Amino acid sequence: MPHDFMPGLAGVPAATSSISDVDGQRGILEYRGIRIEELCTHSSYLETAYLLLFGHLPAQAEFQQWTSDVTRHRRIKFRIIDLLKCLPEQGHPMDALQAAVAALGMFYPGRNVKDIENNYWSAVRLVAKLPTIVAAWARLRHGDAPIPPRDELGFSENFFYMLTESVSHPLWADIFDDCLILHAEHTMNASTFTGLVTASTLADPYTVVASSIGALKGPLHGGANEEVVVMLKDIRTPDHAQSFVEDALNNKKKLMGFGHRVYKVKDPRATVLQGLCQRLFKECGSSPLYQVALEVERAAGTLLNGKGIYPNVDFYSGIIYDKMGIDRDLFTPLFAMARVSGWLAHWLEQLRENKLFRPDQIYSGEHNRPYLPLEQR
Ligand code: CMC
Repeated sequence: MPHDFMPGLAGVPAATSSISDVDGQRGILEYRGIRIEELCTHSSYLETAYLLLFGHLPAQAEFQQWTSDVTRHRRIKFRIIDLLKCLPEQGHPMDALQAAVAALGMFYPGRNVKDIENNYWSAVRLVAKLPTIVAAWARLRHGDAPIPPRDELGFSENFFYMLTESVSHPLWADIFDDCLILHAEHTMNASTFTGLVTASTLADPYTVVASSIGALKGPLHGGANEEVVVMLKDIRTPDHAQSFVEDALNNKKKLMGFGHRVYKVKDPRATVLQGLCQRLFKECGSSPLYQVALEVERAAGTLLNGKGIYPNVDFYSGIIYDKMGIDRDLFTPLFAMARVSGWLAHWLEQLRENKLFRPDQIYSGEHNRPYLPLEQR
């Protein structure tokens, strides 16, 4: 019996989930029922990751245990570093991250995804090791030695330390941690769905996360944050924004960092990120990119808001990372470092009642065609 075909599965539920919820009309995003604005004000990335994975805010002892487990598993095997050394340094960091995460599964080969304890340790390792892999690759490709993690540093502070060998301005770690919270989870997006399809075959979590990383890379998904900064640099000054936006839309080009399948108002993450931009610039001086971005948002507003197209999470995040001196092609790996907790939360949730994803198709080809021998074609 044929069903209605929904291109891109728009509006088709693929799971029942209690992890996060988006109200696309009112611009509200909640993780386990708690609004992201509250989490950014009161929580940390590691605490939010726990909330997503295990469904509740950790009690003190639970949080201490979780923090200590993640902290102790930040190191990566020297062979993962050897693997990274073998990859071409001009390659994209998302490809290096995907390769390294897939390889992690060879070091931690527990295949039984019904083993709850093994699943816990897989989640710990993946949350802990992705930043170390991203930082190691960022240094190796410039000919610098990777810097091992320092246990006394918090999650975000330690990431900056592994990237730069210095302890960052405390405000940077704080703002960066909020960026990780904002990127940690977002309902049934393309990379989460990809991971769940892989997970539904009962593949191991390293394979699940490696497939999600592949889906996140594309410019319609996580890759948009890089493209936004390219666009803002191309525009150069705020007075060029109006004509750039008009030219793009007249030529049917999409504005990167705008639009969303679910939000029909401004993405609440973009609003929080804008506040973070302002905090950062107050302390460290403004960014020319931010002035251009404000003007692009204004120019696009008059032309696109009527269609429900507003800035999304990728519009302001790259401006923050750029100000922090982070290479542009690392922006999407930073997204992956955060989103891994959301991917794993969905993986754990699905395992409780797994069913193999095997959708249908509407066949549009021919039937009963004769086979023509090669010499007659
Ligand atoms: N700029 C200009 N027009 C747009 C844009 C945009 N960014 N986004 C959508 N539209 C228009 C599109 O041209 C189409 O117009 P028409 O009906 O006249 O042909 C209409 O809006 C519907 O667009 P669509 O691409 O079919 O809608 P969708 O729900 O598939 O799009 C999207 C969602 C995110 C792929 C799209 O908005 C887009 O390509 N945005 C730019 C890339 C981007 O910023 N991606 C990050 C998404 S949020 C974070 C994440 O998921 O990683």
